[in-house]
Amino acid sequence: MLIGAPDIKDADLFQLYQLAKRVAKKAGNLIFSLRFPAHPSSNGHAKLTIDQKSNSTDLVTTADIASQRLVFSALRDVCPDFRFIGEEDGAPAPLDENPTWIVDAIDGTTNYVHGLHDFAVCIALSIGKKAVLGVVYNPCSHEMFSALQGYGAFLNDDLLCVSECKHLRQALVLSEWGYERSTQGIKLMLQSNERLLMKGVRAVRQLGSGALDMCYVAAGRADAVIGGIAEKDTWQIWDYAAAFVIAEEAGAVFRTVDGGPFHIESESLICCTPAVLQEIVDTIRQ
Ligand code: IPD
Ligand code: CA
Repeated sequence: MLIGAPDIKDADLFQLYQLAKRVAKKAGNLIFSLRFPAHPSSNGHAKLTIDQKSNSTDLVTTADIASQRLVFSALRDVCPDFRFIGEEDGAPAPLDENPTWIVDAIDGTTNYVHGLHDFAVCIALSIGKKAVLGVVYNPCSHEMFSALQGYGAFLNDDLLCVSECKHLRQALVLSEWGYERSTQGIKLMLQSNERLLMKGVRAVRQLGSGALDMCYVAAGRADAVIGGIAEKDTWQIWDYAAAFVIAEEAGAVFRTVDGGPFHIESESLICCTPAVLQEIVDTIRQ
C-alpha cells in the first residue's frame, strides 16, 4: 500500500489510522523490551544509553532514537511523500499545510529512565495544519488510546467520554512541570498549583507524560490537564498533537493557560471537561 500526499481520501485515512496504531504498538514493544529486558515478553538486550539535551532534566535515550527511527521508517514505507516532525530530529521543521506525521517516540522519557510506567509512543497525522488522527500507546499497560477525527476516541475497543465533573472542588487536575527550573518559572508553577489548592480542588497530580495526561482526561480518569504554564517552550507540538485528537473526540475543551484559543502549536494548554473550563481559567489568571 502506498498513499500519496495530494489527495487523501476518507478510505486512506482509515488505513492510515490502522497503520499508526500498528506502528505505535511495534515501537511501544521495542522501547519496553529495551527498558525491561528481563521481562518475559521482552526480547531486547541492548544497553540503554541516557544523554542530556537542553539541561540535566531534559533526557534522551537510545530507545527514543530507536523508536523514532522505527516509526519514521514504517510510516515512510507507506507515505513516502508525507512530511515528518519528531522530537528527536534536532531542529524539526515548523508545521505547514502538507500531510505531516508528528511523532513523539517516547512521551515521558524521565519516567521511562526511572522505570515508572507512565510513558507512551505518540503518533499524529496533521493535514492543513489540523491534527486529524492520533494514537498514544503505553506498552506497560497495553493501553492504546486512539481517535480519527469525526469517529470518536477509543481506549483499545472502548469508546471514551470526558467526565461529568461540574466544579473544581470535585476535580482531579493533572499539572506538568517539564524541564523548567528558573526561579521565575518555578514561582509561576507553584503559584498556579497554590491557586487550585486554595480553591479546594480535589487533587493535583503530576504523572510525567503530558500525552497520557490528556488521554486520561479523554477517559474521564482526570478532569483537567494544565501544561506549559512557566516557560514559552515547555510543551511542543509532539507533546500535544496525538492526544489532542483523542481528547477532542472524547469531548474535552482547550485553551492556552492565559485563556486564549488553543492550537497544537500553542505553547501552553488547559485541556478539560467542559463544565470546569471557566473556573480553571479564572483560577489560574486571578
Ligand atoms: C515531556 C512530558 C512531560 C512534560 C514535558 C514534556 P518528553 O515529554 O510530556 O510530562 O511536562 O514538558 O516535554 O520529553 O518526555 O517527551
Ligand atoms: Ca519525547
